Amino acid sequence: SPMDFEGIKKIILDNKIKIVVVGPEVPLVSGITDFLKSDKELDTSVIGPTKYAAQLEGSKFFAKEFMKRNNIPTAKFCEFTSKTILEGYDFLERIDPPYVLKADGLAAGKGVLIIDNIAQAKEELKQMLLNEKFGEASKRVIIEEHLEGIELSCFVLTDGKYGLVLPMAKDYKRIGEGDKGLNTGGMGAISPVPFVDSKLMNKIKTKIISPTLNGIKKEKIYYKGFIFIGLIIAKGEPKVIEYNVRMGDPETQVVIPRIKNDLLDIFIAVSEQKLNKIKLEIESRSASSIIAVSQGYPEQYQKGYQISGIENVNNALIFHSGTTKKNNKTLTSGGRVLAITGFGNNFVDALRVSYKEIQKIQFNGMNYRKDIGFDL
Ligand code: AMP
Ligand code: GLY
Repeated sequence: SPMDFEGIKKIILDNKIKIVVVGPEVPLVSGITDFLKSDKELDTSVIGPTKYAAQLEGSKFFAKEFMKRNNIPTAKFCEFTSKTILEGYDFLERIDPPYVLKADGLAAGKGVLIIDNIAQAKEELKQMLLNEKFGEASKRVIIEEHLEGIELSCFVLTDGKYGLVLPMAKDYKRIGEGDKGLNTGGMGAISPVPFVDSKLMNKIKTKIISPTLNGIKKEKIYYKGFIFIGLIIAKGEPKVIEYNVRMGDPETQVVIPRIKNDLLDIFIAVSEQKLNKIKLEIESRSASSIIAVSQGYPEQYQKGYQISGIENVNNALIFHSGTTKKNNKTLTSGGRVLAITGFGNNFVDALRVSYKEIQKIQFNGMNYRKDIGFDL
């Protein structure tokens, strides 16, 4: 478990591991970087921010205040606790729907509610603040302005001194076609994002990425690792929806395969604070990734079904997430089971490849969205 810090320390010592790249946010927010860095027995570089820095994802309020101090465009907001719930109701009365309510802390991607109806918004605010709907995470709630626009994911790797901007990606979060239905971890992704032209890219760099990196430096926040900036482009202007202190899933499955450099060189440069020496080489072709999920996901689903046809996929990368091996057979063991990444000269061609290849794979109840990229 990534939360078993002592267990991880033992693996590092037993295997003489020199660099640890932390994937998920929960151990980061819980301080795994601080733990590994402060241990006298270890001499390991950690790619992942400290507990303090990880609040950029672990506390929406921390992130909002950081953006405010550093003039980074984001939705206007107010924060409320159980003591100020009446002011929260008042605030909802004064703003227009839809109402965006966010639990301050980590809630496994479930802590954001977007509600049209005022009575329901007040009820949810009460559930979050007084009845701990999301536990500790909703002891504080952010209510923010609703932004209308198209979303994209921006990734930056920093060594605390220098930053590398990685390829942009767009993910598809809803379970259903046409982006309908429940939120998931992500059902597919493409990279690059065709509507990000050089003009928009420059705006993102000057208004979002630079002030974020400068803010981290200026505020002496120790940050070595990935920053995932969730953006919304509203009337041509980029605004930050959220920071994550890691890569994204399934964005990683289209972003990393487009980086031609050896990743190890990049990680060594991060640990030595020499990221300025790295010249990124990016694959000019597009990548698309489709996620095969278990029937029922993101709600209840069955596991343990045999997966067949993987060996027939010859023109795409396959990433395993919810799989396990038993008696030499590959079985499903999670909600999001596999990601299939194909390449093409543009995102349409890349999708054609991914869709052709995914059809070679079968398991009982296998489901995937047939419309990734539909909106573009
Ligand atoms: P988050 O967990 O902050 O990424 O929010 C989850 C999703 O809610 C985002 O991917 C957006 O689709 C949506 N969302 C969050 N904040 C806003 C906002 N201020 N306006 C419109 N949509 C939002
Ligand atoms: N795909 C969104 C995330 O990893 O949070």
